[in-house]
Amino acid sequence: MKSLLVSSSSSLKGDISLAGDKSIAHRSIILSAITPAKTRIKNFPFNQDCLSTINSFKKLGIKILRSRGNSLTVFGKGIFGLKKPSSPIFLGDSGTTMRLLAGVLAGQDFSVTLKAGRSLTKRPMLRIAVPLRMMGAKIKSKINAKEEYPPLTINGGTLKAISYKVPVASAQVKSAILLAGLYAKGKTRLQEKIKTRDHTERMLKVFKADIKVKKNTIVIKGGRELTSPGVIYIPGDISSASFFLGLALLIPGSRIRIKNICLNPSRTGIIRVLKRMGARIEVITSKDQRLSAAEPMGDLIVRASRLKGARVNREEIPSLIDELPVLMLAACYAQGKSIFEGVQELRVKETDRIKSISFNLKKMGADIRVSRSGNYENIVIKGKKVLKGAKVSSFGDHRTAMSMVVAGLSSKGKTRIDDISCIKKSFPDFLTLLKTLS
Ligand code: S3P
Repeated sequence: MKSLLVSSSSSLKGDISLAGDKSIAHRSIILSAITPAKTRIKNFPFNQDCLSTINSFKKLGIKILRSRGNSLTVFGKGIFGLKKPSSPIFLGDSGTTMRLLAGVLAGQDFSVTLKAGRSLTKRPMLRIAVPLRMMGAKIKSKINAKEEYPPLTINGGTLKAISYKVPVASAQVKSAILLAGLYAKGKTRLQEKIKTRDHTERMLKVFKADIKVKKNTIVIKGGRELTSPGVIYIPGDISSASFFLGLALLIPGSRIRIKNICLNPSRTGIIRVLKRMGARIEVITSKDQRLSAAEPMGDLIVRASRLKGARVNREEIPSLIDELPVLMLAACYAQGKSIFEGVQELRVKETDRIKSISFNLKKMGADIRVSRSGNYENIVIKGKKVLKGAKVSSFGDHRTAMSMVVAGLSSKGKTRIDDISCIKKSFPDFLTLLKTLS
């Protein structure tokens, strides 16, 4: 356990560039591996989760070499080029790796066991098992109280196309089905109730898959080889940027420029909501979008701001799901009440983030209430409370840990976070980059 003591910071100023977006990075490895060509990936984030995806494909027989700086090259072998690994694959705690890889493995004619680390063994897998079984895959898991958990043994084979309404707003579930759809005979049709991040659809188009997207409906036709774009540049991670947005907004006198960030509208909910709260955020869209895996990108200039409360509705949640910890903190400082509706998916992240963030912020003096209406949960925060330092816990969750660093630096007094080693799951350079600003 590595604890960290932080105390209230003076203004933060400077320019930073962040490693590539974690969601896009997983997809870039997966699609490059099943394409019969070499693909160079630039600005790759070498965090624990993305290393799990690299390691999985190495075990499935794919050569992946790290080259200069933050680049790597994947020597893809085509849609049926993966080989059965000699032993189970251990994925650490990467939920995205497990759910997306399950989709690819559903189409292979061999069986593989995917093992998980401590937090991933507690995360629900029924949501992918149901549609993948409908397509013809055989999946064994650990069953407990009507839910299914890792380890997963996936016995793939010939798949059939399905028509499926995704019952949870989850890009991981959608992506697992789309990837399996590459192997299915015929057209797989998906419908989302609420649109989630669309990196898989964008990257499938870049790799020339037969995919059509119309509003919330996606149709993918299986059975053909993909084509590599040759080079992919991964724009910076907006989820990692969210911690710097929080710091710049909440620490008086701060100004931070975050360069080359992914500005995909399905991920920029945090910018829209913060602007509604009165945040001074300037978005400078980059003109050079050629290599960025069909993802818009640009710079963000953020200045310390006086915030007011906002209402965030259910439809907006998927576009800011991983940024809710920072938004909850911002709401504590805002004038008036903030309401976040339909946030129940936060319960099944690396830890129950409704619990972890409320517990910590309440210890620091926040006024937070959680209410339930039917299947939905809402968080209500009364702002303008003076937060003061406290002993808080990361609960082993990277995003809880980093939001508590932001909370500690922007509040009065000293804050001790019990364990920050989990930060390397998504953002190993977080503290180093932070020091360049202090
Ligand atoms: C992700 C989707 C989201 C997000 C996760 C990454 C992805 O999860 O919270 O960090 O890369 O598809 P869900 O699909 O469970 O909502």
